[in-house]
Amino acid sequence: MIYPNNISSKLPKTGTSIFAIMSELSNQHNAINLSQGFPDFMCSKKLIDLVTKHMRKGNNQYAPMPGVLALREGIAEKTKELYNTEYDPISEITITAGATQAIYTAIASIIKEGDEVIVFEPAYDCYVPAILLNGGIPVHVEMKTPEYKINWDEVKKLINHSTRMIIINSPHNPTGSTIDAEDIKQLEKITTNSDIIILSDEVYDHIIFDNLKHESIASYPSLANHSFVIGSFGKLFHNTGWKIGFCLAPEKLMQEFRKTHQFIVFTCNTPIQYAMAEYLKEKSYLELGNFYQSKRDYFNDLLKPSRFTYTPASGTYFQLLNYSRISDEKETDFAVRLIKEYGISSIPISAFYHKEIDNKVLRFCFAKSEQTLEKAAEKLCKI
Ligand SMILES: Cc1ncc(COP(=O)(O)O)c(C=O)c1O
Repeated sequence: MIYPNNISSKLPKTGTSIFAIMSELSNQHNAINLSQGFPDFMCSKKLIDLVTKHMRKGNNQYAPMPGVLALREGIAEKTKELYNTEYDPISEITITAGATQAIYTAIASIIKEGDEVIVFEPAYDCYVPAILLNGGIPVHVEMKTPEYKINWDEVKKLINHSTRMIIINSPHNPTGSTIDAEDIKQLEKITTNSDIIILSDEVYDHIIFDNLKHESIASYPSLANHSFVIGSFGKLFHNTGWKIGFCLAPEKLMQEFRKTHQFIVFTCNTPIQYAMAEYLKEKSYLELGNFYQSKRDYFNDLLKPSRFTYTPASGTYFQLLNYSRISDEKETDFAVRLIKEYGISSIPISAFYHKEIDNKVLRFCFAKSEQTLEKAAEKLCKI
C-alpha cells in the first residue's frame, strides 16, 4: 500500500496500550489473564434477556443524543439516594459509550491549547492522551508507594493561572487506593473560587471495601458545581464489553459536554440503555462491595505462602503485589517472564507513569472466578 511518509503524529510518544500488549502476550502463551480489568464470569442473564426484549420490541434506532431518558432518570434517582444530590436528568446527565468516551469528551469540551491539567500518577492510561490531543499540558503529581496518597502541598505549588482541570480517580486504578474526607477538604480549598474544573473518574464507586465510604464528588455541592462525575455500567453490571457509561455535571458544563459528545458519538446503543434502565431498579450494585471484597480476600489468602508482599486494596478489582523479595528485574521484564515461564499475566505499574519509575509492583485483576484465582495463586506461590 502506498502511504504518506510525512504524517506528523499528534501522539508521538504513545504506543499501543499496555493492556493490549499484555493481553496479546497472555493469549500467545495461553497464560491466565489477570492483566486486563474484566470479569471472567457472566453478567446477569436477566439483563441479557432485557436487552433481547427491547431489541424485539423495536428499540433499535438512534436513542436521543443525551441518552434514553428512563436511564438518565434512573441514574438521577440513584445519585440522589446515595449522595443526596439532585442532577436534572434532562439537562445534567448524559449517557456515553463507556467511561472512556465520557472522559475524552469532558476533557475535549474544556481543555484548550496551553491549559494545564493536574494528573496524579500512577494514572489510568486514557487521561494524558486526551489532554494532549486537545492541546493541553499534563502536569504530573506522583503518589508514593505503598499508600498512594495525594500530596496536596505539592498540588498547591503547581497550581497557577493556566491550571484548568484536576483529574481525580477514586477508587483508584491501578493502585486500589481511595480518597478520604481530608482529600475532599483539600480539593475544596484549592478549587473553590477558582476556574478549575474537576474531572472525577468514579467508575469503581461501588467497589470499595472494609466499610470505607466512597467519597463521591457528587455528594459535595461545593465541588459538584464545577465537576464532571463519570461512571461506568461495565463495572456495575459485569459487562465491560457493552461500553455504556455516563457523565453528571451542572447544566452549564453539561451544555459544553454535549456540544462535543454529539460529534464524537452522537448517541449510544439503544436497546442496552432501555434494558439497563429497567435493571438499575434492582439495585444489584449495592452488593458489589461485598462481592469483590470476598474475591480480594480469597485471592490474598491464597497468596499468603508466596514471596510477594501486598497491602490489601481498599477498592477496585485490582490487587498490587510487590516482588522485591523475588527479583531485581524491571517491572516490564518481570511481568513478561511471568507470562512466558509461569503462565500468568499482570500489568507493570511502571506503565502508568510518564517517567521511568520502578517500584517492583505488578497489578493483578481479581474480578475472576474462584477457580481462576486458585490456578493463578498456585502459579504465583511457585515463584
Ligand atoms: C479508572 C478507569 N476509568 C475509566 C475506565 C473506562 O471505563 P469504560 O470501560 O466504561 O470505558 C476504566 C476501565 O477500566 C478505569 O479503570
